[in-house]
Amino acid sequence: MNKFNVVILAAGKGTRMFSNKPKVLHELAGKPILQHVISCAKKLNANKIIVVVGFGSDQVKQAFSHENLIWVEQVKQLGTGHAVQQALPFLDDDATTLILLGDVPLIDAINCQELLAQSKQSLTLLSFIKTDPTGYGRIVRSAVDEVIAIVEHKDASTEQRAINEVNTGMMAMPNSHLKNWLQRLQNNNAQGEYYLTDIIGFAVQDEVEVTAELSQDEWAVTGINSKQDLAQIERVYQTRYAQILLKQGATLADPARIDVRGQLTVAKDVEIDVGCVFVGNVGLGDSVKIGAYCVIKDAVIAAGAIIAPYTHIVEARIGANARIGPYARIRPGTVLQADTHVGNFVELKNAQVDVGSKINHLSYVGDATIGKHVNIGAGTITCNYDGTNKFRTVIEDNAFIGSDSQLVAPVTIGEGATIAAGSTITKNAPAGELSLSRGRQITIKGWKRPVK
Ligand code: UD1
Ligand code: CA
Repeated sequence: MNKFNVVILAAGKGTRMFSNKPKVLHELAGKPILQHVISCAKKLNANKIIVVVGFGSDQVKQAFSHENLIWVEQVKQLGTGHAVQQALPFLDDDATTLILLGDVPLIDAINCQELLAQSKQSLTLLSFIKTDPTGYGRIVRSAVDEVIAIVEHKDASTEQRAINEVNTGMMAMPNSHLKNWLQRLQNNNAQGEYYLTDIIGFAVQDEVEVTAELSQDEWAVTGINSKQDLAQIERVYQTRYAQILLKQGATLADPARIDVRGQLTVAKDVEIDVGCVFVGNVGLGDSVKIGAYCVIKDAVIAAGAIIAPYTHIVEARIGANARIGPYARIRPGTVLQADTHVGNFVELKNAQVDVGSKINHLSYVGDATIGKHVNIGAGTITCNYDGTNKFRTVIEDNAFIGSDSQLVAPVTIGEGATIAAGSTITKNAPAGELSLSRGRQITIKGWKRPVK
């Protein structure tokens, strides 16, 4: 493909969002609306991505400081043509420009490639058919069906308003022409704005070919103006993502009840029950089962693992055939090896748990290294924090921790050691021995309960 620049228009306030936040920063599938447009431009391999910002520009720039972008400010929003004029100094003479809208997040690379393919010689715009075209610029064609103008709704005659082919706002053209046309824009129209769409008329005057590519995918060209639009596009996005997962062989209890906010990779025979949310990068191995209402973020879950309902996993690795939950919380830094079991109301943080170990009930295990085939009884707590510093607990292979024990870190429980239930362990427990710390049980003979 020839060299091209992308200009993304994102200066608008988005009044109908009723928000203090710039429109393009509202999130779709866990990422700012604008991020989706930028990702599309990057996928196309644009040699420059120029973003026109206005309302809340500092906030917008800040949100994308990780991206390699050229920012231009449109201090007053005097129209789409005026917005593109701000990008003029950055447009390469020998390139073409693709104009995208910052609030049209589902734009896909294929539509863009079609526009770019023809943009070396001609002005190509993306149109679509709207049953109710109210508010859109209408594509006006000649008797021989050539595009001759775009007329904005407010400037259109009754006849023109009956046209169903509308402008998506996205278009591509050679910069040599664009630079010239932008300088000719006037604002003598119903809205007193500098309309980008007026360049179609200039192209016709200059005998530059104008073509309209008709988009077959309405959602790919739909802009977000309100929270209703955002919610609707979110559902479209999620439905499409669910369809991809189904195509790849995943079993979804209900494709309408899964949310992916990032990238979900599925191997064979994965099963996902209803209400699950996947955030960031999540990978599920062969035959992994995810129970209802799990939230899983930036995690890798190996083959055969079963995650029971209502489990929350963040930045962790779960080994093959592990069984987690229901109601487990697995926090960052946790690595569970194969055949580990983590049961209900267990919280793990930065815990590395080796093969076959079990923490089945009501425990907090943080900053801990746990060996193979360790059994951690109900209610065990690693006391890892003295109010200032964090310390580690080490539990070696085949150790057995009795229920309701507190392991005060730093502390090591030796290989094969047993800790009696209800112990508070403050010193290292030697391998193979029973350690306990308990008040002795006594019985007070003849004691009576108080009576009224
Ligand atoms: C524009 C088109 C119209 C098309 C419609 C599709 C013009 C004159 N009209 O309408 O033909 O059918 O999009 O939605 O181009 N923006 C700026 N600076 C401005 C004005 C707008 O950056 O001064 C940005 C907005 O943030 C938005 C985009 O341009 O992302 C489109 O603006 P919007 O006001 O929604 O579109 P219209 O001008 O109504
Ligand atoms: Ca407008």
